[in-house]
Amino acid sequence: MTDQASASAVRLAERLANVETSAIRELFKLLGKPGIVSFAGGFPDAALFDVEGIREAMLAALATNPGAALQYGATEGFDPLREQLAAFMASKGAQALAPTDLIVTTGSQQALDLIGKTLVSPGDKVIVEAPTFLATIQCFRLYGAELLTVPVDGQGADVEALQHLIELHRPKFVYLIPTFGNPSGAQMSLERRRRVLELAVRTRTLVVEDDPYGDLYFDAPPPPSLLALSHEVPGSRACLVHCGSLSKVLSPGLRIGWMVAPPELLAKATMCKQFSDAHTSTLAQATAAQYLAAGRMPATLQRVRRIYAQRAAAMVQALRQELGAAIDFVPPRGGLFVWARLTGANGRSADGAALARLAIEHGVAFVPGAPFFARDPDPATLRLSFATVDEERIREGVRRLAKALEQAG
Ligand SMILES: Cc1ncc(COP(=O)(O)O)c(C=O)c1O
Repeated sequence: MTDQASASAVRLAERLANVETSAIRELFKLLGKPGIVSFAGGFPDAALFDVEGIREAMLAALATNPGAALQYGATEGFDPLREQLAAFMASKGAQALAPTDLIVTTGSQQALDLIGKTLVSPGDKVIVEAPTFLATIQCFRLYGAELLTVPVDGQGADVEALQHLIELHRPKFVYLIPTFGNPSGAQMSLERRRRVLELAVRTRTLVVEDDPYGDLYFDAPPPPSLLALSHEVPGSRACLVHCGSLSKVLSPGLRIGWMVAPPELLAKATMCKQFSDAHTSTLAQATAAQYLAAGRMPATLQRVRRIYAQRAAAMVQALRQELGAAIDFVPPRGGLFVWARLTGANGRSADGAALARLAIEHGVAFVPGAPFFARDPDPATLRLSFATVDEERIREGVRRLAKALEQAG
């Protein structure tokens, strides 16, 4: 065969050189082992889905307006759902929000993609938290963003460091998960939220708030979202993009997310969505609209919050008991994750990736934290999800983790 004949006809776009398949996906291949306790997923628990409520909502959607539920729809979203989502956010403090201030997206993941597509030119600087959601890192990189990182502690992103980075680099935008972030689990304090909005206004910097977990609080509601707080900080709404999702609270399979943004950005994002998937599934949108209109959400939220809170408490207690000084973490106040750091105390290993491999041999899986850093990874970090494991299995999984750590030395 000549070189020409053997050469592939596939010549990939240069931008793909900026991203690689995530280390986490590789790890997931090992999870098929029977009996394994998995803290690795980022999924809600399928056993908690309100199947009956969703079934009724879908039947109602097909009964009331089958033509609309099964036909092509507007790119911006199905109007009854936009109305319900605006009302849902208003119930959480967002003021003066019209249904036309948001578009429905295919999961909030698509909102993030549309943000990358509409805002990032190759070489543009974007600030993200360290650590942050892995798919966001990959998505913004795909569009050529140069990612800068702001550290996160138990109170969320460090606003002073953020100010310094903004003044120095004049980024295209800042991406934050202020409430129970993935993977940090952190809850940004009210004071920091105010300062972020003031900083955005003062420096005319766009801030993207990604908020798929805010409804999953345990004991007390978190401070208001940046969106809800924006009416207290004049001018801040014009600097703010807010992404929401029904994935973690209702069902990720519905693929219902949304995005609130300044009108000029929303118009361009809508245009790009038109070329991408035309619109989010009308059947899923009509189902979600019926579900919200039926008033089922408060009870669903109450139920999932209670169960996740119990599981989080079981994991926190087991980690303290079984791993003691070898591990350090801030107990989460909501969300699906414990974000932890191996301290290396008593000569124990502080290598998250090595422990993840060994842990699988011991019958427990988690995700090492390093891939969640857009730069300067901290190899001692781990993300442990308690969401899909019952309390007894959580305790068993943590015991196995302690054994793996013992063996790691
Ligand atoms: C922080 C964050 N943003 C966005 C998403 C995307 O969720 P979806 O596209 O299902 O709404 C996730 C899912 O894990 C997430 O953790």
